[in-house]
Amino acid sequence: MKNFLRLCPVGVKVKMINLNSTSKFSGSITIPSDKSISHRSAILNSIAYGNAEINNYSNGEDCLSTLNVLKNLGVDIKIDNKEDFLNIKIAGNGFDGLSMPSSILDVGNSGTTTRLISGILSTLNFDTTLSGDDSLNSRPMKRIIEPLLKMGANISSDNNMAPLSFHPSKLKGIEFKMNVSSAQVKSCIMLAALNSSNKTYIQQPSLSRDHTERMLKGMGAKIKTNKNDIFIEPSKLNSIDLTIPGDISSASFWMVGALIHPDSNLLLKNVGLNDLRTGIIDVLKDMGGNIEIENHRIQANEPVGDIRVKSSKLVGTEISGEIIPRLIDEIPIIIVAASLADGPTIIKNAEELRFKETDRLLAMSKFLDKSNIKHQLKEDGMEINGNSDFIGGEFESFDDHRIAMSIAISSIVAKNNTIINNHEVASISYKNFYKHLELLKT
Ligand code: S3P
Repeated sequence: MKNFLRLCPVGVKVKMINLNSTSKFSGSITIPSDKSISHRSAILNSIAYGNAEINNYSNGEDCLSTLNVLKNLGVDIKIDNKEDFLNIKIAGNGFDGLSMPSSILDVGNSGTTTRLISGILSTLNFDTTLSGDDSLNSRPMKRIIEPLLKMGANISSDNNMAPLSFHPSKLKGIEFKMNVSSAQVKSCIMLAALNSSNKTYIQQPSLSRDHTERMLKGMGAKIKTNKNDIFIEPSKLNSIDLTIPGDISSASFWMVGALIHPDSNLLLKNVGLNDLRTGIIDVLKDMGGNIEIENHRIQANEPVGDIRVKSSKLVGTEISGEIIPRLIDEIPIIIVAASLADGPTIIKNAEELRFKETDRLLAMSKFLDKSNIKHQLKEDGMEINGNSDFIGGEFESFDDHRIAMSIAISSIVAKNNTIINNHEVASISYKNFYKHLELLKT
């Protein structure tokens, strides 16, 4: 592995990495902390009453953005920085404990910070503005602005995108039928509902990750869930101590790496196995993947286990419908697996991928084009012919962490070296990704 700087024609410095293949891919790693659960643990404890200790909080940049925003809102947060994670202490004093920030709230690249915090900011009795990087400021926010306006929020934006400004307003509960299955959107509405009058009812088109619902229940919120329905009332939360499980989305890169490599045996320790996140395991097993779960347990009210993965002969599959929200972030790495599988893989109903940190369908299609891998890009997915090999080459990360990490995994079996421009974007969710990659190339 070699890191270096290159001068682009326009004179902009781009960091890149040069990765080579490996004859063996094996070992054991503890999977870093779950990004979704980390965000929620900090946000919910900041509006709860009491002191909370959160262990194994993610040190990815998105989760640091959440801590910075909360600190800027006056929350007392103490951070103990460890090598692979943070331990934090939060002294919450309810919504009333939040105070006017000294500057614009910087949400960086983080869609989860933006959408969850917006639910809180809408209900405060002072003005706030949030803004992020170019990618964040071009992502769709109408999906949260519309229901928040219906609750009575006073929000200004340019064309329904960040920067978003929130002005004081009293909110009331609503009945909200979601048209996109999104955990960020439903969480935004639940957070606003906590500090509104009356009840709120949310109907989901299909189930998405339920970390917010689980944590709210553990903190004493008046919330009931029944299949796709959520009923929530204004509530005071009690703070809660948590040890955050590892992120199955981060583990998915190593799962696919082990499956596609001919000489592999990996143990991925401490992985969160929430049913609404395990679509990746279902699909990879369906493709013939040798994946076993050991040491099942419960941690932070979430199922957790260790995952053993070994080299496998993969076959193509079809992925569509209700499974999509259960593996939405894993589709780029599934495309890597599908490229090498025997026979075609068809991915449908995944148009949401076009609204992530980058248009992930287009980004992966460009990667496959440059790798001479036959596929057809569709509006809502992709068909990958399979039976191909990675040839290596120079690729763009499109400044998207999951695209960078997916391409990096292809490098372990590529014929030539793989160069990734702005590879460091992986640290948005996985600070030590390249260090762990080298550890497993034994
Ligand atoms: C997330 C929900 C998903 C996911 C994102 C994290 C969350 O986004 O893609 O990485 O923590 O709630 P959507 O809610 O937009 O589907």
